[in-house]
Amino acid sequence: MNPKKVAGEEAAEYVEDGMALGLGTGSTVRFFVEKVGEMAQKGLNVVGIPTSKSTEDLALKCGIPLTTLEDTPTLDLAVDGADEVDPDLNLIKGMGGALLREKSVAASSKEFIIVVDESKMVEKLGTKSPLPVEVSPFGWRSCKEWIAQLGSVPSLRMVEGQPYLTDNQNYLLECGFKGIEDPYELDTGLHKIPGVVETGLFLDMACKIIVGKESGSEVNEE
Ligand code: 5RP
Repeated sequence: MNPKKVAGEEAAEYVEDGMALGLGTGSTVRFFVEKVGEMAQKGLNVVGIPTSKSTEDLALKCGIPLTTLEDTPTLDLAVDGADEVDPDLNLIKGMGGALLREKSVAASSKEFIIVVDESKMVEKLGTKSPLPVEVSPFGWRSCKEWIAQLGSVPSLRMVEGQPYLTDNQNYLLECGFKGIEDPYELDTGLHKIPGVVETGLFLDMACKIIVGKESGSEVNEE
């Protein structure tokens, strides 16, 4: 079976009646959302908070009732994908462009479960994926220079010749590192830069990683 489907559907096993759920973004968590949709059609009572417009559309199509963080500030469980996972369960996320909402939703949740296939598991963050950093369009060039001084090669994500806009109308800098030595120090440094809205470093947030494989799933926990 498709490893992404294995991981996404396994995460649905942790859903209980009455839960408020954070719904992540991407091609792996999509299988979780579809499974929860099936469960809701059969009578499961849950509400979801989507982390992007695309997940909102999917959840509505699947019949999952939606709410907002304003109405439901504490969630029971958030499930999302990741771009990289290290042995300490720290993550790079946000290559789908949804990192700001993803981080707010994950931080509001009692439990945060990550669903990935094996290709996302790394020994050190920043070795396979660039680090996405969401920045304000105002002054983004200066922001890019300051981020470069932290040891990365940032490039502005473009779509059809125009800067890519996140759901929050910000720009996305894809910051190449040849491995991130100290993700905590880097995250602190990035947050000090004027114009940085959020980083794709999700540190000490995930409690469980479900790794989907063709033959089944493996669960890594704290
Ligand atoms: C979106 C994300 C995704 O969770 C991440 O990019 C993984 O996506 P996929 O499951 O499609 O590989 O952070 O902003």
